[in-house]
Amino acid sequence: MPDSQKIYLKDYTPPAYLVDTVHLTFKLSPNATRVNSKIRFRPNPDSDSRDFFVHGEHLTLIRAAIDGQECSPVVTDKGLTAQAPDAPFTWEAEVEINPQDNTALEGLYMSNGMYCTQCEAEGFRRITYYPDRPDVMATFTVRIEGDLPVLLSNGNPTASGDGWAEWHDPWPKPSYLFALVAGDLRNHPDSFTTKSGRKVDLNIWVRPDDIDKCAFGMEALKKSMKWDEDVYGREYDLDLFNIVAVDDFNMGAMENKGLNIFNSSCVLASPETATDANFERIEAIIAHEYFHNWTGNRITCRDWFQLCLKEGLTVYRDSQFTSDVRSRAVKRISDVDGLRAVQFREDNGPLAHPVRPDSFVEINNFYTATVYEKGAEVVGMLKRLVGDDAYAQALDLYFERHDGQAVTIEDWLKVFEDTTGRDLGQFMRWYSQAGTPRLTVTDDFKDSTYTLNFKQYTPPTPGQDVKQPQVIPIAVGLLTPNGDEVQETVVLEMTKPEQSFEFKGLSSRPVPSILREFSAPVILEQDTDNETRAFLMAHDTDPFNRRESGNALARDVLRRMITDGAAPDPMYLEAKAKILTDEALDPAFRALVMSLPTQEELAQMLFDTGHTPDPEAIFNATQTLAQASAERLKQDLPRIYAAHQVKGPYSPDAGPAGHRVLANSALWLLSRLDGCKQAQAQYDAADNMTQQISALGCLQYFDHGADATQAFYDQWRHDRLVIDKWFAMQVSNTRPDQTVATAQALTEHADFDMKNPNRFRAVFGALAWHHAGFHQADGAGYRLLADWLIKLDPVNPQTTARMSTAFQSWRRYDEGRQALMRAELERIMSTPDLSGDTGEMVGRILE
Ligand code: ARG
Ligand code: ZN
Repeated sequence: MPDSQKIYLKDYTPPAYLVDTVHLTFKLSPNATRVNSKIRFRPNPDSDSRDFFVHGEHLTLIRAAIDGQECSPVVTDKGLTAQAPDAPFTWEAEVEINPQDNTALEGLYMSNGMYCTQCEAEGFRRITYYPDRPDVMATFTVRIEGDLPVLLSNGNPTASGDGWAEWHDPWPKPSYLFALVAGDLRNHPDSFTTKSGRKVDLNIWVRPDDIDKCAFGMEALKKSMKWDEDVYGREYDLDLFNIVAVDDFNMGAMENKGLNIFNSSCVLASPETATDANFERIEAIIAHEYFHNWTGNRITCRDWFQLCLKEGLTVYRDSQFTSDVRSRAVKRISDVDGLRAVQFREDNGPLAHPVRPDSFVEINNFYTATVYEKGAEVVGMLKRLVGDDAYAQALDLYFERHDGQAVTIEDWLKVFEDTTGRDLGQFMRWYSQAGTPRLTVTDDFKDSTYTLNFKQYTPPTPGQDVKQPQVIPIAVGLLTPNGDEVQETVVLEMTKPEQSFEFKGLSSRPVPSILREFSAPVILEQDTDNETRAFLMAHDTDPFNRRESGNALARDVLRRMITDGAAPDPMYLEAKAKILTDEALDPAFRALVMSLPTQEELAQMLFDTGHTPDPEAIFNATQTLAQASAERLKQDLPRIYAAHQVKGPYSPDAGPAGHRVLANSALWLLSRLDGCKQAQAQYDAADNMTQQISALGCLQYFDHGADATQAFYDQWRHDRLVIDKWFAMQVSNTRPDQTVATAQALTEHADFDMKNPNRFRAVFGALAWHHAGFHQADGAGYRLLADWLIKLDPVNPQTTARMSTAFQSWRRYDEGRQALMRAELERIMSTPDLSGDTGEMVGRILE
């Protein structure tokens, strides 16, 4: 990618003109929507420039005027420039746009007959000419004219009639938070009374067929509103809060002011069609978007380099919410699993970038696990370092000081410095340095003093050869050899490349439990023997580390099976059985202990320890270990399965969901022993999607699934979200030699539609995440994915670019696979008219 296309953080300059008010009129028409804008500009006192430039892409300019005088601006494919006064003035423009042909799903587009917008990050410039940057905040008044029953925009409704509606949003906002929706929609209404006694109307708007799938989302919304009042003191600030479900959407959801727009998969749920995991995810995403009202909307980002300012903090807040309404330990363990699978992979490959990147070509390519999930980890570390009270005070100061502003990470850290008097200069490196720090630890015990010696090292990442030491909060506890805690959790603050910490007055050598709750996003390298791991698995008082010791043990067992052909280690099987059968433990926690490390995680671990990962060998080892577990547990499995069946009407709450996840992980193992008899019985009796899909998964995985797969389709062909699952499951549950052929066959199915991102991701996301299937030695997986990325790119560049990250770890593998992947990446790269999105991503992967 030529550097000339890159934008740099260091080049930030304030806008020449600011905007006070925006008036927009939309005359909707599928192929020829007219947008009239009337915008009050004024010179920015903080800028010396008086160059008037407004962004605009894919627009047909009909007319433009400044203070009522027609003008002839200079128009390019990026925007326009015009002669503007050095004084406040009114800009007026009329443009024509084509929502029907907008398959990129950015700006104003159509989905199943409904008009819908997605403006973050830079979609508003596809709607009209505007300074489309987040540091320009204005109040919006919108008139929509269109022959559709429901016409929505941000803020409060001010007037409406037959075929038109007017909206006014009193809160100044950047253009990326603008939204418009028009369609034949039904609403699920409710209301919420805020802590100061204001009544807020709430609606979830959906297509008529989906009206019975809104109740859960509405409860989640009310819970989120209450939680943000209780925990952060944040009250909602409009009379109305709307959520809309749309079928065609590039991401999960969007926090437009007062009008959140959701991928329908992230809001619609009923017991028959959504799994427990879907319910939990929907609850979290509703909370996330709602929480953005303060962390994102009232206080926004100065520029897109600061994306983590709103996303890292909001992900952190939604994870706190889930911990509070569900289980803290289970949430933490699943978050860390996700972080390691996705963010660590990113941080340790060609796409590594800082939580706050300092350059980009296409900002859409930076909605990453690093910005979001590592960004949230950084907020969590800050809270751990300053303590809960100081965190709460700093947040109060943040809301007070920056309300209504577009700010930076420096502003964010400053409120913590001002609250605590701490210097956070070194902490800032978590935002500016890419890569996952390696933390190694050794220990000594002498004269009643126990010493932990840490070293930190962060490997080079693209563009950053040398790393400085970071502040690492290391939560540590110490146990006696009989399992009592002699030192409860303390947070050690490591700031130097090497640092030791002493614990005095111990009568015998303790067993350390290090990095409790995963107190920092690092790779901990600890020379622990497997007896100690098994001991911690049984006795650690920190549930995160209890599971982590089990995982570390499993990784080691699998590594020896893969590289030395070792047999499954009985010690691991015993330790695991002990947890599985311990009825005193939370069922959801036991299910997490049952799960094996993912094959992707094993590949990375092998690579990090100097081996070339062989996907077939990894697949075979996990099969062998799972089979050995099943055999070790054959007495227990039927009993555990039966004991955790949930009676009565379905509830998605954490309690019953925990029983189901445990019973269903027992079912997976049991299916290895009973020819899927129990799975078939569960499939036949299932009255909710969790039970149905868990059973179907077993049947498919163990090759008994043909009839059920057909029956499932016949039952659900009318429900697109369930059919997405049907597509994905067939690919995920294949043997590796069938994965590519199955995905290929599914692209020929009448219901496959590459224009729908959910459907495309169902097939190709499942392919990319099937480690051994995707990495088939003959390269068929690489070829199939590249073929479809090339087809999708002209239709939807953003989704193509995102899916191309399936190739990011290509350098981990053997020469044969590397050559095959490189060839596919180069084939994509040489496609004529490749989008900038995909070009940047594939270019970085190849670099
Ligand atoms: N801000 C949205 C969220 O809640 C995501 C928007 C993503 N948009 C994009 N163009 N990548 O996280
Ligand atoms: Zn977000």
